[in-house]
Amino acid sequence: MNPAPDAPIGVFDSGIGGLTVARELMRQLPGESILYVGDTARVPYGPKSPETVRRYSREIGEYLCAQGVKAVVIACNTATAHALDDLRAALPVPVVGVVEPGARAAVAASRSRHIGVIGTAGTINSYAYERAIRALAPDATITSRACPLFVPLVEEGWTDHEVTRRVAEEYLEPLARAGVDTLVLGCTHYPLLKAPIGGVMQGVRLIDSAEETASEVRALLA
Ligand code: DGL
Repeated sequence: MNPAPDAPIGVFDSGIGGLTVARELMRQLPGESILYVGDTARVPYGPKSPETVRRYSREIGEYLCAQGVKAVVIACNTATAHALDDLRAALPVPVVGVVEPGARAAVAASRSRHIGVIGTAGTINSYAYERAIRALAPDATITSRACPLFVPLVEEGWTDHEVTRRVAEEYLEPLARAGVDTLVLGCTHYPLLKAPIGGVMQGVRLIDSAEETASEVRALLA
């Protein structure tokens, strides 16, 4: 049976980071209701194996479908990198991830075609962004870095904290020195750290895939 047009959109993340995507969905699609799952019992996904992240994503996707959602948004880069194809094959509703929309926004924003990508270890080691960016801009130079301490700092609520600023300097100074003109915040937790990240990456465009992902969902529902 097809879900009713007024069925909710299912959105999930390993924790609270996906709320940055849910917020943008609410802004662009104010008439829609959203069913959000934050897997705070098992966060973080970043250091876990692709198989484990696929299993968790499958469980949550199936749960959301059992609640009658009309589409599933994977508001987690790590889960998108490891489980997008799997969920698209397994679930009876359309599935939207955050990596392709983020790559699109980065390519549109970058002038020098030197693009930085930060994310969890799982996302960076999967090369999902490299593939997505190169599919759109084969000549791009991509400098990537995993920033595993950012997610626990956000989950702890330390978004504006001296420790977070120090960690940001440590992770990001090599990217600033490398001269990227655009930086993909390749983890849905990172937009909550725009202030400390922007403090190190002065003059660099910060790409948050939420807006582009919500536009993709809007087009899909239309
Ligand atoms: N917010 C998630 C992402 O976009 C995952 C963070 C984590 O659980 O490690 O990758």
